[in-house]
Amino acid sequence: MKKILFVCLGNICRSPMAEAIFKDLVERENLSDKFVVDSAGTANYHKGRNPDPRTIQVCQENLVKIKHLGQQINVKDLSYYDYIIAMDLQNLSNIKKIAETKEQVNKIHLMRDFSEPHQNLIVPDPYYGNMEDFKEVFYILTKSCKALFDQVKEEVS
Ligand code: 4NP
Repeated sequence: MKKILFVCLGNICRSPMAEAIFKDLVERENLSDKFVVDSAGTANYHKGRNPDPRTIQVCQENLVKIKHLGQQINVKDLSYYDYIIAMDLQNLSNIKKIAETKEQVNKIHLMRDFSEPHQNLIVPDPYYGNMEDFKEVFYILTKSCKALFDQVKEEVS
């Protein structure tokens, strides 16, 4: 069993999209019983809210199911999850600030490091952008989720 938490700022655009894409990959290979997958925000602005309508739209256009309600990351998540995956450098730094042990810090990763390692690339925040920005984020996340899945799949088999 591997537990994965995707994290962005508001938990209505990037991280619920990553959660939906990753779950889709897991379901396609019938590995749902081997994974716990969720998402959270470093901020609590959108607690209990559905994903942004543009996030829902881009997922639907790509036939990826999405169902999530906004929640804020908590220090307990850093113990529970095996992989805590940040979308950008600000998220990464904010999550590291709440970590209490070295073991917790070691679980925190940057999303694009799985697909394009050692370049410190970020998943750009599409919130103030348009539908094209959401499509670009979907493309980036698909690539990174596939790379992450290929890696973690080896660990659950
Ligand atoms: P996310 O995008 O971090 O990808 O969910 C944002 C959503 C909301 C806000 C900022 C970013 N906001 O400022 O409300």
